[in-house]
Parts: sequence; structure tokens; C-alpha cells
Amino acid sequence: MKVASPLDYLVRSGRPLRGCLRIPGDKSISHRALILAAVAEGETTLRGLLRSEDVAATWQALEALGVGIRAQGAEVRVRGVGLHGLRPPAAALELGNSGTSARLFAGLLSGRPFSATLKGDASLSRRPMRRVIVPLRRMGARLRASAAGTLPLHIAAGPRLRGIAYRLPVASAQLKSCLLLAGLGAEGETCLREPAPTRDHTERLLSRFGRPVQRAGLELRLSGGGGLRGTRLQVPGDLSSAAFLLVAASIVPGSELRLEGVGVNPTRRAVLEILEAMGADLELRERSPEWGAGDEPVADLTVRAAAGLTGIDIPRALVAPAIDELPVLMVAAACARGRTRLRGAGELRVKESDRIAAIAAGLQALGVEVVVDGDGMDVRGGRLQGGSVASGGDHRIAMSFAVAGLAAEGPVRIADCGPVATSFPGFADLLRQAGADLRVAGDEGAGANGLGEGSGEGREGVSGADG
Ligand code: S3P
Repeated sequence: MKVASPLDYLVRSGRPLRGCLRIPGDKSISHRALILAAVAEGETTLRGLLRSEDVAATWQALEALGVGIRAQGAEVRVRGVGLHGLRPPAAALELGNSGTSARLFAGLLSGRPFSATLKGDASLSRRPMRRVIVPLRRMGARLRASAAGTLPLHIAAGPRLRGIAYRLPVASAQLKSCLLLAGLGAEGETCLREPAPTRDHTERLLSRFGRPVQRAGLELRLSGGGGLRGTRLQVPGDLSSAAFLLVAASIVPGSELRLEGVGVNPTRRAVLEILEAMGADLELRERSPEWGAGDEPVADLTVRAAAGLTGIDIPRALVAPAIDELPVLMVAAACARGRTRLRGAGELRVKESDRIAAIAAGLQALGVEVVVDGDGMDVRGGRLQGGSVASGGDHRIAMSFAVAGLAAEGPVRIADCGPVATSFPGFADLLRQAGADLRVAGDEGAGANGLGEGSGEGREGVSGADG
């Protein structure tokens, strides 16, 4: 008898999904809120911070740089050290699986009077860093990466950076935010031009911390020098995490879910537009800002099972702003009538895994017709069969195929779901709470098929940042 790995999911279709759920805090905002609070003057209080492994990587790296961060009930308090108060780390900063941490810390630590080294796990160590190295060097930073332009990244102590005017070659909020963080302490102005709009959480938060960024169209300007002021803010629920529930409820007949307090920043809403264009039944009710929610719009989302989804050509302009939701949107496409065409999504190949290859392989394993075409794919919607899918160590691939399992004709097993903890701790519990038949393989209490009855979630149940 083969005993399954403790972090496999086994999902079966069945009951409709129902109820009112709270989605964990937004990952992008959580990283940024911690980092900006760390270099602000005075204390910052955060509510709703995502307690996941990726955010724990940022939290622990900031502690290694001398920042005091403490959890107190539902709040997290950060004692800011000021723009020039970070201290030399005693060892390399281990950033795990977190691409956002790697790009943001590259900008934060460039031009400091001390050196630092950024490291990551096997997946993060394959991801491209030249996109940040090239402009940071132009600002005067002294950086050394592997020959392939990947981590480990060594940042030498250096003179104060100077602001630059720079056209971003890729639509990447991580790159933009890296350069804004570098620009904070630089001499003169940092002027950036994006090829297309990307999530603007850094800009909104900078304004909240008292350092507004000027925006005109695709151009951003930040003047270097002035300090940040500590503040308090509430991190909204993560729309990228909510997307798994939105698709799940859309494809499971009879479902109705209400997701409360989800961030609906206009630069993140493309997933809603795409789902609506496919025929999803969504209702968005904006709520008045919660405690210190700041400049991030928040809404309650209601989703009901779609009368029938239809395949579409995903507009190119919506690809970058829906980049994290494309894997689960391809699952929706597999349940839709007709063909869905995705193009212009080459960035998917350099995420936590090659997501184009991973989505195609997973859907094909479930009997779906998929044709990969360079930077995209065509998915022919129809029936999903049962089968086994590999997550490839990628949290969003694991969760996407868990959702697929809810609408498949036979059981779907997803191998290696531990990485779900990087962005969505409690994902399996939340789906089960809504009525899903999702079991997490466990060593203890494993039945004849090697699957536990949902007691042990392994890494996924761990709330990362208990610092
Ligand atoms: C993120 C930006 C996106 C996204 C990632 C989080 C961020 O990456 O895929 O999950 O927090 O800035 P890119 O900006 O590099 O596309």
C-alpha cells in the first residue's frame, strides 16, 4: 500500500458551497505594510496582516535588520527605526519562497552603509533578478547575483543612491516597488514609467505613511530624502485568495458564498471583469473603510453558481493585472462552454513555477484539451475527469486544482500542497467550512487509502509569523 505524502489533497465533487467567509489578509499589502512601518518614525499598528510563510519571511528579515515587531492579539505592532536606522544583519536573509520579499528587499537594502545577502528556496533561486539589478546598479547600488542573474544576491555597502529616470521593461509591481523603496533614501527624484498599470499598493501606502508619490498616467515620481510617519491600518482580505472561492462557487451547482472585507483595488479587479465576461454571477458591495483601512477600497463579494460559463478571449490588457488569478481562471475555462484563449502571459513562466506548463499539464491530466502556445494557451472547456495532478511546489497551482476537483467527475488528488501556506493558510479548512469534500493526507489517522480525515494540515495549518 502506498501511503500518500502528508500534504496531498484529495478532493471530490459533491455538495454546493455555502456560507459567509473571511479571506486572510492581502499578501502584497502585508509585505509592504511591514517594510514601510519598519523604516517609518514611530510605531505602526496593523490589523488583518496576513500570517503566512511568505509574510513571515519579510517579518523575520526585518527583525534580522534590527526592527522590533510584535503580535498582540489581532494586531501587529512595528517599532519603526526610521529611514536610516536599519542595522547590519548577522547572517544572510532567508526569504524562502517569497519573490515579493526578494525584489522589495533588493531595493530596501541597496545603498546602505552595510552589506547583506538575500537567499531563497530552490524555486525562488530560479527566478529572475536582473530586472531589479539593472536599474538598481544605475542608481549606484553594488549588487552581485549568480551567473544566471538569480539569488543569492549580494548587496555590498555603498554610497547613497541617486534617483534615476527609468522605463520598466516589464509590467511588474515588484520591480516598481523595489525602485520606489530604493528611491526613498536616494538623492534627487526617482521617475518611473510603467509599460502598463500594475498594482499600486506601494504608492497608496507611501501616501498613508506621509510620502506621497506623484502619478501622471503611467509615470510616477518620488522625491528622495524625507522620512515616513508611523500609522495604523487594516489590511483587507486578499482578492487573489478570494479568486479560488469565486471560481469554486461559480462552477459547483447550487453554491452561494459571501466573502467579507475583500480588497477591491482597481488595479487588482481584472479577475472580476474576466469572470463576469465568462458569465459568472458576482455581486460587489463596497463597504465603508474599516479601522484605518486607508486608501484601499474594500467590498463584500457575493458569488452564486453560474448558470453556465462561456469561454472567452482574455483581453491582453487584463492579463498583467490578473496575473496571479490566471491559473484558477484556466480552471474556470475548463468548465466553460467553448474555447478560452490566453495570450501575452509570458510572466507566468517565471512565477513560483512555470505556470503555463503546470496549468496545461494539470488540466490535461484531468482530461481537458489544452494547446500551449508560447506565452499562453487555448483551453477547450468541457468535462473535468478525476485524476492526479502535481502542484510543482506552487501554492496557486495546488489551490487551482483543488478547485477543479470540486467540479470533476471523479476524485482529484493534488500532490505537494504544503506551499499553500505561503499565501493562504487555512485554505483547506475554509473550503471545508463552505461544504467542500477536501481531505488532507495525514500521517496520523490515515485510512486505508493513506488519507487522514482532515486533522493534520501540515505546513498549511502553520501560521507563519508568530514573531
Ligand atoms: C506582487 C506582484 C506580482 C504578483 C506577486 C505579488 C507584488 O508580481 O505576481 O504575486 O506584491 O508586488 P510581478 O509584479 O512581478 O508581476
